[in-house]
Amino acid sequence: MNEPLDHYQRELDALQERCLFRTRLTFDGPQSSRLGYEGRELLNFCSNDYLGLADHPRVVRAMQRGAARFGVGAGASHLVNGHRTAHAALEEALSEFVGAERALTFSTGYMANLALAQVFAGRGDLVLEDKLNHASLVDAGLLARADFRRYAHTDVRHARRILNERDSGRTLLMSDAVFSMDGDIVPLDALMEVADEHEALAVFDDAHGFGVLGPNGRGTLARFGTVPKGRTLMMGTLGKALGTFGAFVAGNAVLIDSLIQRARTYMYSTAMPPAIAEATRTALEIAGREDWRRDKLRALIGRFRSGAKDLGLQLIESETPIQPVIVGESGRALKTSRLLMESGILVVAIRPPTVPDGTARLRVALSAEHTEADVDRLLEAMGAASP
Ligand SMILES: Cc1ncc(COP(=O)(O)O)c(C=O)c1O
Repeated sequence: MNEPLDHYQRELDALQERCLFRTRLTFDGPQSSRLGYEGRELLNFCSNDYLGLADHPRVVRAMQRGAARFGVGAGASHLVNGHRTAHAALEEALSEFVGAERALTFSTGYMANLALAQVFAGRGDLVLEDKLNHASLVDAGLLARADFRRYAHTDVRHARRILNERDSGRTLLMSDAVFSMDGDIVPLDALMEVADEHEALAVFDDAHGFGVLGPNGRGTLARFGTVPKGRTLMMGTLGKALGTFGAFVAGNAVLIDSLIQRARTYMYSTAMPPAIAEATRTALEIAGREDWRRDKLRALIGRFRSGAKDLGLQLIESETPIQPVIVGESGRALKTSRLLMESGILVVAIRPPTVPDGTARLRVALSAEHTEADVDRLLEAMGAASP
């Protein structure tokens, strides 16, 4: 009778034994460079709030005003009657910001990625992805019922070889624009060229580049001097640099219309609360205008990298706020993270299956809210905690 429960208990025990058991820490207060935890204050180096907007007073006020005007929930999906002027205004602002014909909001980036693969690939087609893509892109590829292939990380020649083997069906190429656990940037121009050669649609998931990279933070495509147009689509998330919640897809109007007509995660899910759309519009305006946030981030990234190199820590080639320190073995990553916590610093250990076996790491994430002294404190603690 208890057999199913025993099965799950054994699974949990096995995770514990391999140092892969996940625990949630419960924090108090808003996302910020300082976090309240069990009566202490921790210096936080693991949020995606890269620009420090999650608790910005103007963004908070925009959400409060939005709730007063629109209530707290949309009450229906976009295609029934959940679509509000707040969503329309945000889509307009986003498409203008990234230089696309149209933009479409989704409730989460995960859902946006599922939608893209479902609509633009199916049986007999190919979904081609980078080996280190985010889990939501991997799931999207698996759920699309298409042939699902992965090329070695950022290896454009490998991608081309796979494409050369095909002679029928549509191809959808999907890649993180900034790799979420490594912080490196996709070879965007070379991949776009390969996609073009094969008339493939290309989707770049800019969850970690939007707001951070390119002029005014317009994202990774802008950093490469291009915009989402033609067969290239951009997916951006709103819960990271913009500090709010949700996601969008930007690009050609025909492709956006196809998503509205066919994307199941769009059609069969409640629209994002309009107050969030209002808060996001304010966050977008601040993110675009306040270049000092990106300038400060860049300086902090440089400071961290040079200090970490002096300490002999193993870094990845990354110019983004994602600065992982590779530790290798999961138990060791957990132990280092615990030692850091004892000295009041929060950097969580990222372990398999989120990252490949043997590459457990401390994913340091920097924010414009940090100070130089914060980075120095982190380096000092890492120096002391590293075996
Ligand atoms: C690269 C990437 N894509 C998509 C997502 C999913 O976005 P969301 O949190 O909005 O579901 C994330 C992280 O959450 C991510 O890191």
